Amino acid sequence: MDLRLVFATHNDHKAKEIQSIMPNGVHILSLDDIGCDEEIPETGSTLEENALIKARYVFQNYGLNCFADDTGLEIDELDGEPGVFSARYAGPEKDANANMKKVLEKLGGTQNREARFKTSIALILHGEEHLFDGTVDGRITYEAKGNGGFGYDPIFEPENHGRTFAEMSLEEKNMMSHRARAIEKLVHFLIKDNYTHRL
Ligand code: IMP
Repeated sequence: MDLRLVFATHNDHKAKEIQSIMPNGVHILSLDDIGCDEEIPETGSTLEENALIKARYVFQNYGLNCFADDTGLEIDELDGEPGVFSARYAGPEKDANANMKKVLEKLGGTQNREARFKTSIALILHGEEHLFDGTVDGRITYEAKGNGGFGYDPIFEPENHGRTFAEMSLEEKNMMSHRARAIEKLVHFLIKDNYTHRL
């Protein structure tokens, strides 16, 4: 028997990427696949809350097994900003260059550049809620470097690598990224603890 799992995203690319790392028998559906064209409001004050809001929305409205994710960049010198506001830090346009510019301007020449990316995933499986997280520690550079990736990648250097995420290949970033680590926990849970013995 197979498990159909809705990923609460409108981004088909994201859904396909996740599908490729799911165990056999797990079928990922995006919001568009289930006929949901709502933009689910992310009104929580933490990443966990936002992931839960999105997963609960799907479960309550469609009664389907589902999961949702939320990611943020936390910078120590800025008291954890941009955090849950990472996408729209410099305004509702969600402009990555403007966001990075704002971070670099706020940090100025400070040497305290410690930061981390965090991803939270909320899974609702057979009506039960489970949370998974993934973190990667690093620092904010003094200027943008590299052309790969997206979002804050050009100004984030993961610990012990001496290069920004934007200077890495997608494969290399995926070996250590916050999102990869959270998804790994989700997959592990589905395989070991729940998915198989419920079939
Ligand atoms: P989301 O929760 O995946 O939509 O991520 C929210 C925001 O965090 C994005 O709009 C980006 O600005 C930023 N972000 C998320 N993941 C990454 C990443 O892997 N690299 C750089 N920025 C990211």
